[in-house]
Amino acid sequence: MAKARTVFVCQQCGAQAPRWMGRCSECGEWDSLVEELVGGGPPAASATAAAATTPQPITSVAPPDQPRLRTGLGELDRVLGGGVVAGSVVLIGGDPGIGKSTLLLQACDGLSLGGQRTLYVTGEESLMQMRLRAERLGVHTDSLLVLAETNADSIAAQIGSTAPGFAVVDSIQMVYRPDVGSAPGSVSQVRESAALLVQLAKSSGVPVALIGHVTKQGAIAGPRVLEHMVDTVLYFEGDKYQSYRLLRAVKNRFGPTDELGVFEMRTSGLAEVTDLADVFVSRRRGAAPGSVVVPCIEGTRAILVEVQALVSRANFGTPERKVSGLDRNRVSMLLAVLEKRTELVLAGHDVFVNAVGGVRVVEPAADLAAAVAIASSFTDRPVAAEVVAVGEVGLAGEVRGVAQIDARLREAAKLGWKLAIVPRDNARSIHQRHEDLEIVFVSSLAEALEAAVA
Ligand code: TYD
Ligand code: MG
Repeated sequence: MAKARTVFVCQQCGAQAPRWMGRCSECGEWDSLVEELVGGGPPAASATAAAATTPQPITSVAPPDQPRLRTGLGELDRVLGGGVVAGSVVLIGGDPGIGKSTLLLQACDGLSLGGQRTLYVTGEESLMQMRLRAERLGVHTDSLLVLAETNADSIAAQIGSTAPGFAVVDSIQMVYRPDVGSAPGSVSQVRESAALLVQLAKSSGVPVALIGHVTKQGAIAGPRVLEHMVDTVLYFEGDKYQSYRLLRAVKNRFGPTDELGVFEMRTSGLAEVTDLADVFVSRRRGAAPGSVVVPCIEGTRAILVEVQALVSRANFGTPERKVSGLDRNRVSMLLAVLEKRTELVLAGHDVFVNAVGGVRVVEPAADLAAAVAIASSFTDRPVAAEVVAVGEVGLAGEVRGVAQIDARLREAAKLGWKLAIVPRDNARSIHQRHEDLEIVFVSSLAEALEAAVA
């Protein structure tokens, strides 16, 4: 290996530069270069290794023979695509204290109860702290092994010698390789340690879960390549001050990426939430200004989410625009469309928009609900009780159709909502009768406001 030298490594993308620069020349991030000591980098592939792999017919590749391992946490298994795949590496990111360690300890417990030996490697907590959490969760199985270790080589050796059915490394930012010169938590340490563990998972078939910290911007701390190296990237999120926790896949080589898993943090650990009727809706059908419920599609499920808006006169300076749970840019666009197409004068008003329950709604199908909520709060006229609204809003104030309209309406009808405001575009894509749910078709925002606001 070449002699160690110092370089400047971008903490965002992992690009290296020989000298410090204010801005990374690769990804354009400001002030992201940090000085690190690096070795000579990975050894070049030898000629014999290059010759060892040859192309083969796809039919001669053995299909996977091992079924997926069930963790016993149905919501986790579903987000993974049906359970843990042998030899796969899952990266789980989330804010501190959100429940990552709890989730994986419970997963280990479930796998252990299913007859697997599991290994939980902790670099963040002492074994006594692990024991305390295990007591709290009621985890009492001898098949769950714990190890307090941060040296990646030792961790790899222990995974190799104990050959568990599932291994957890909590967290990847704490792990280091002694032969990489830089400090634990630095980009090269995280990358090299993860590379070792990924290689081990692939060669041994032991599925590995890596817990990752997230940065202030909400991405997993460390090089971006970390997400490329692993098979599956999950984010565990939610409002720390509320009990619901959402698990979402942003990358999954073995399953869907749009599934949403919902848990509730209780005093004895995470409980699955399968009935989502009230999770993202805080009001039950009372008329309230600034509140509209939208039937969203999250993966294979339709869920009802309440969108709330508060519009109030700004006292001084530039009005505030605060959005949580929805796309900020879309809300800005909706404000402009409302001003232009419905004659609401929102300039000079603070606007707050929020999706209830800490969920993030990114689909444009929530546009109409957000626009109606804003208009309703501005005029202080409540949205008629028992109304849900769905539709994408265009720049001309037109309301466009959305996908999977039947699934959305079915969920609304099932939960007892009485009136649905639906894009006229969708009139021909409704193939099912939704009894007890009256449907009002609209083609513009103005029409929708007329139908919704009492
Ligand atoms: P933890 O799994 O340690 O979070 P992370 O690993 O993501 O940092 O969970 C931390 C929080 O969860 C902590 O504030 C206590 C709470 N908690 C419960 O409410 N119930 C429980 O059974 C457990 C184990 C933790
Ligand atoms: Mg933890």
